[in-house]
Amino acid sequence: MKEKFSVVIAGGGSTYTPEIILMLLDNLDRLPLRKIKLYDNDEERQKKVAKACEILIKEKNPSIEYLATTDPEEAYTDVDFCLAHIRVGKLQMRELDEKISLKHGCVGQETCGPGGIAYGMRSIEGVLENIDYMEKYSPNCWMLNYSNPASIVAEATRRLRPNSRIINICDMPIGMEHSIAKIAGLESRKHMDIRYYGLNHFGWYTSVKDKSGKELLPKLVEHITEYGFINGEEGMKTAKKDSWFETNLFTREIIKTDPTTIPSSYLKYYLFQDYVVNHSNKEYTRANEVIDGREKEVFSACADIEKNGHSKGSSLQVGIHAEFIVDLAIALAYNTHERMLLIVENNGAISNLADDAMVEIPCIVGKDGYEPLSVGKIPIFQKGLIEQQLAVEKLVVEAWIEKSYQKLWQAIMMSKTVPSATVAKELLDDLIEANKDYWPELN
Ligand code: NAD
Ligand code: G6P
Ligand code: MN
Repeated sequence: MKEKFSVVIAGGGSTYTPEIILMLLDNLDRLPLRKIKLYDNDEERQKKVAKACEILIKEKNPSIEYLATTDPEEAYTDVDFCLAHIRVGKLQMRELDEKISLKHGCVGQETCGPGGIAYGMRSIEGVLENIDYMEKYSPNCWMLNYSNPASIVAEATRRLRPNSRIINICDMPIGMEHSIAKIAGLESRKHMDIRYYGLNHFGWYTSVKDKSGKELLPKLVEHITEYGFINGEEGMKTAKKDSWFETNLFTREIIKTDPTTIPSSYLKYYLFQDYVVNHSNKEYTRANEVIDGREKEVFSACADIEKNGHSKGSSLQVGIHAEFIVDLAIALAYNTHERMLLIVENNGAISNLADDAMVEIPCIVGKDGYEPLSVGKIPIFQKGLIEQQLAVEKLVVEAWIEKSYQKLWQAIMMSKTVPSATVAKELLDDLIEANKDYWPELN
């Protein structure tokens, strides 16, 4: 019989928690569980989803032990996997990140530009704190971390917890691969082999082959040049017209900057920063869409489940896009050697980038962790962009470690989304004020 595992979800009050619970429950045949715990440092917020999650688990498999707690010892004792998705400062701070950046004429985005830098300065301590609890109470546990901004968090853990069992992963490549598979007419992204390199939210696919080994990239580039990541005329009609639709559609512009690759849709924030700013609503940003959309929907669906005592008729859905987390846990648990895109230390994988760069590249995952695949030499265009962005991420982490105003100013002025040192300074001063409860005091 297969061993059964114990999982804790850190950031239990997240809007993603119920769909991740459903996804875990949907995969019990692949990853058997004996215990699921939620952990958050905000009891009130976690309560909004905790009871509903308990009901969902009882309905599917009453033998799974369940606990929602704000006590780190209870949360982290006897766990094999920690799925970490915390948001330090919550959506209210995301809204400020986005709006302060826009006020200064810069991209206002969750993980890119000044907003992402501000968020990074908040996240580092929260993620380290959770790693420390994990190491104290369950030293053999793996943390599968997708708390953002993933690149900065990954650099911080490389510097400050180099030996910890944390694996940094993002769902964006998987989301893009879903779109790519659909466009290519394949049933699943698992029916293709890809090559990709870059940083998190900052990368390029260089090859997409079907399982017979046929290269699909040129055809895909043709499609994306016309429709972006939208699935043709049909997708144009049926897709929900939110800011993600805009982002997916806009990839048709980004792809022109290098038509030999498929770019990450996030590159629009770095390569078309003027367009993005001019087309942003400074009063109503993505944070507002999420607060008025996903957050309300998830919390009200959870309240209904709690009130009814069952989930029949509920709108909550399995988080299909989060399946990669189960795949990753299974690869670690059962030594499957699955190939996955992870954020890892370069160490020569990209031969013309520094060894200590945290890059997003394909890795083989097994019982003892991951082994990065070799990428080789990358072109000047991508190398230049990556090195500039890497410098931003490294400066943020150094600024946090050294509590350095100077380095954080340099990080912001280094960002391709910021036009000058003057604007960077004005931005920084506003961000310091907004983040005084979250950042170390800078000197
Ligand atoms: P959310 O604000 O709804 O939930 C985050 C939760 O984290 C909150 O309940 C908050 O109280 C909790 N939290 C904050 N600091 C904590 C700490 N130190 N310890 C424990 N809990 C803490 O956020 P969300 O929109 O659901 O997103 C959650 C996170 O997942 C964000 O970082 C988001 O950027 C990230 N995310 C990443 C990916 C990816 O692919 N990398 C995909 C989706 C979301
Ligand atoms: C993708 C990215 C995440 C990001 C999320 C934002 O999934 O990979 O890193 O957090 O999008 O989505 P949202 O709906 O909150 O804007
Ligand atoms: Mn991501």
